[in-house]
Amino acid sequence: MPRMTLNDQPIEFDMAPDTPLLWAIRDAANLTGTKYGCGVGDCASCMVMVDGEALRSCLITIAEAEGRFITTIEGLSRDRSHPVQQALVAEQAIQCGFCTPGIAIAAAALIARNADPSKEEIEEAIPNLCRCGVYPRLVKAVQRAGRVARRQETISAAPAPGISAEDAAGEVPAITPPDPQT
Ligand code: FES
Ligand code: FES
Repeated sequence: MPRMTLNDQPIEFDMAPDTPLLWAIRDAANLTGTKYGCGVGDCASCMVMVDGEALRSCLITIAEAEGRFITTIEGLSRDRSHPVQQALVAEQAIQCGFCTPGIAIAAAALIARNADPSKEEIEEAIPNLCRCGVYPRLVKAVQRAGRVARRQETISAAPAPGISAEDAAGEVPAITPPDPQT
């Protein structure tokens, strides 16, 4: 049973060792902020930090994650106060939001090693696909997050989304298809 540290908590998954980390995070740990997009490494919506590096969790097995420190979007900050989260909101670099957790993770990993990235460095470090096309705003947001991280600027914390943690963790009923007889 592979063991690792997930958002600063020790965790042991009672699952087959070749289970993708993405499945374990979403289905066993119930951390659904990390998104399943393509499942084959193309979209990067599933990015998590593994020992500080942004990696696609659909391509890593839990056996490969054994002993490593994993950070998901839920662990980036407890109150949306990470500079990347603040800047993404402030620059309105979020539309439908499906790609946003993966982008936030990739951006946070970049800012941690280079808080003053160029447009080219951002484009290289954040390969994530965004079907809504937030790319121009994304560059501005990441550069702004860098200024916040360098303490050259402050942004007030992103507002709460108006959803309680209890509601967010609630079960969503399956959609029942209409009865073709009626
Ligand atoms: S779900 Fe992992 S890269 Fe698309
Ligand atoms: S904001 Fe919709 S996919 Fe990126």
